Amino acid sequence: MPRIPLEDNYTDVIAKAQRGLGIGDAELSEKAGVSRADLASVASGNPIDAVLRRISRHLRLGPNSLEDLAHNRWYPEQPVFHRGFAMFNTPYGDMSVNSYLVWDGRSREAAAFDTGADAGGMIDLASSEGLRIRYVFLTHTHEDHVADLPRLVKATGAEVWTGEREPCDFPGAKAFRENDHFHLGEIAIKTLSTWGHSPGQTTYFVTGLDRPLAVVGDSLFAGSMGGSRTNFADQFRNNVDKIFQLPRDTVLACGHGPLTTVAQERIHNPFFAG
Ligand SMILES: [Fe+2]
Repeated sequence: MPRIPLEDNYTDVIAKAQRGLGIGDAELSEKAGVSRADLASVASGNPIDAVLRRISRHLRLGPNSLEDLAHNRWYPEQPVFHRGFAMFNTPYGDMSVNSYLVWDGRSREAAAFDTGADAGGMIDLASSEGLRIRYVFLTHTHEDHVADLPRLVKATGAEVWTGEREPCDFPGAKAFRENDHFHLGEIAIKTLSTWGHSPGQTTYFVTGLDRPLAVVGDSLFAGSMGGSRTNFADQFRNNVDKIFQLPRDTVLACGHGPLTTVAQERIHNPFFAG
């Protein structure tokens, strides 16, 4: 798979932090002691380190990780699963969206996580590997993540599941609570509520593969986090309390952008590396 670009650049991160904390340009300029002209220059893509350092403190962003992001000095090392995991990255308008397939090698039972724009690759892989997709687990129901749900369900007969607080009008979809468990042979899947970006967004913590896996949807991205105008603080707190409590080597499978790990995000994600 070609290298998937990071979902957010440093200007996105700054804008999300400003919006989330409700700090406008005038206030940031005054608090951080930087001119409006310098702030505008940074926002337009000119990363002035001295300005980044000053504003990062007021936006609760890690200064080193923000600088690394601004100068393209970091890209997450891509974890490898030897079995039972596949990632799909499909174009959706001018962006791209991820979906995932996890399976148990012995029973050949599989679970899909979201559909992406096009579930064709997932359906083909299930067929060539002799897998039965029993479940489609939705991280959240924003259109880009569920765009091919009717086709995936028609092709597989899988049950569709979503968090109980997530709006979902797909016929027959079932809702779980936080800390529910599902099993596919040796694989266990636990539901963690990491809402904020959407009201019932779920992170699925998967054990029984080579290493722990968390399918986080748009809770978190490599080097950034999901946006929310209204629930930024909730999303941030849920990420800290739930995703960052997982084992360090947990692979984070995000709704957009590349794979990452808890350990890498602790150092390189400006929102959490502070
Ligand atoms: Fe999304």
